[in-house]
Amino acid sequence: MASYLLAIDQGTTSSRAILFDRESRGIAMAQSEFPQRFPADGWVEHDPEAIWESVLATCREVIAEQGVAIEEIAGIGITNQRETTLLWDRETGKPLHDAIVWQDRRTAEHCQRLRDAGHAELVQARTGLLIDPYFSATKLAWLLDNVEGARERAERGELAFGTVDTFLIWRLTGGRVHATDATNASRTALFDIHSQRWDPDLMALFDIPASLLPEVKDSSDDFGRTDAHWFGGELPIAGVAGDQQAALVGQACFRPGMGKSTYGTGCFMIVNTGERAEVSRNRLLTTVGYRLNGVPTYAMEGSIFVAGATVQWLRDGLKLFADASETESLARETKSSNSVYLVPAFTGLGAPHWDPKARGAILGLTRDTGIADIVAAGLQAVCYQTRDLQVCMSDDMRTPPGTLRVDGGMVVNGWVMQFLADMLGVQVDRPGILETTALGAAYLAGLRLGWYRDLEEIAALWQSERSFFPSMEEGERERLYSGWLEAVERVRCDPE
Ligand code: G3P
Repeated sequence: MASYLLAIDQGTTSSRAILFDRESRGIAMAQSEFPQRFPADGWVEHDPEAIWESVLATCREVIAEQGVAIEEIAGIGITNQRETTLLWDRETGKPLHDAIVWQDRRTAEHCQRLRDAGHAELVQARTGLLIDPYFSATKLAWLLDNVEGARERAERGELAFGTVDTFLIWRLTGGRVHATDATNASRTALFDIHSQRWDPDLMALFDIPASLLPEVKDSSDDFGRTDAHWFGGELPIAGVAGDQQAALVGQACFRPGMGKSTYGTGCFMIVNTGERAEVSRNRLLTTVGYRLNGVPTYAMEGSIFVAGATVQWLRDGLKLFADASETESLARETKSSNSVYLVPAFTGLGAPHWDPKARGAILGLTRDTGIADIVAAGLQAVCYQTRDLQVCMSDDMRTPPGTLRVDGGMVVNGWVMQFLADMLGVQVDRPGILETTALGAAYLAGLRLGWYRDLEEIAALWQSERSFFPSMEEGERERLYSGWLEAVERVRCDPE
């Protein structure tokens, strides 16, 4: 009997492969970073071959490292950076261009034209999204219009579009399967999240030929088998979800009102809304949380573009410390009267502001401001931004989360987690397994492969490692948060 599931977590800055055993323990992990390309101001690209090679290498490494025979692996779950857009030749499997990454803002003007022409309502009603360069549709249109011959070849049915999951499935199955799952499809701005179909009106609006689009499957489904060539045997690909939705599954947020926040490069807070696709009045997104047996479970999402990236900037840009682990002790040195605010709008502001032209700032500096105060302000910014999302969600939802499950690199920092609980005024739960994104992909594959009966069985596996309880006085919480709101107003370029 097979003993392991292989999870592929293809993220924005690195690819990881993790082998999980039946007790959902990650028993081996391999990671490989790949280069980020910034060909012009606001553009972000990845070399698709670098993505592919890093995935292949990490999978092979983790299998070899454990000395696991291919028969011992039950199957593969894939989770991925979402929205990132690829276009390739169906015959050769060769991409026509670098992948356009979710952070890329090159289609800002195209989006503005569509908003000016009054299409925002249609897009939100069908997809739950806003018209923003973040999503795949305008990136794909850009590729069709800017790569020579691409549009004609697409019309002739020679090309395939995919987000990273689709590209990996295509490559792993030797070009036999062109498919995605409903969570990834829900981030393209071409998918009707209510009917669960590609939408002809949106395809017309963004000028996207239907022949490019992959088949949309459940998040636990048959995505084909890997070509025996890659790992010395065929493996079924049985689970697929965008990374933030996979974290929702890994955190076992299966009941309406349960939510998680993942602190990676950015921060993505997602709350399960069950069978209801709740529409935000506060510019949050409605998205597919997961789809099982043809039935979508919806979620509301707040997307913050910069979280852990602030810590990286403080380390590599300002050189305030050598290692991220130092931030906790530095932040503990800061005075309670610290009134420094760092607004990390390096690539504009995401939810709920959606202001691509805003830029970052450090405010409230005094003669005695030191490194510790600036570091603390950088960490606090992530918590203030989470509070921004919580405020919107509380207004939008009938059952906003009473506790928040957290994961991602930053949550090892106890000082940040306590400040987060203080700022949100709710209990913050840190799970025993922090690899929740990969774990979610493994769970989805395991559901399909009969490792787990249902979501209840998975929910019973979730364990808290530590809970953080709010202890800050209400007056202090409001004083600090209103200072943050003022700081954000100072950097906005596009106030509503
Ligand atoms: O929507 C973008 C998100 O999926 C990226 O996640 O963890 O690769 O930064 P991450």
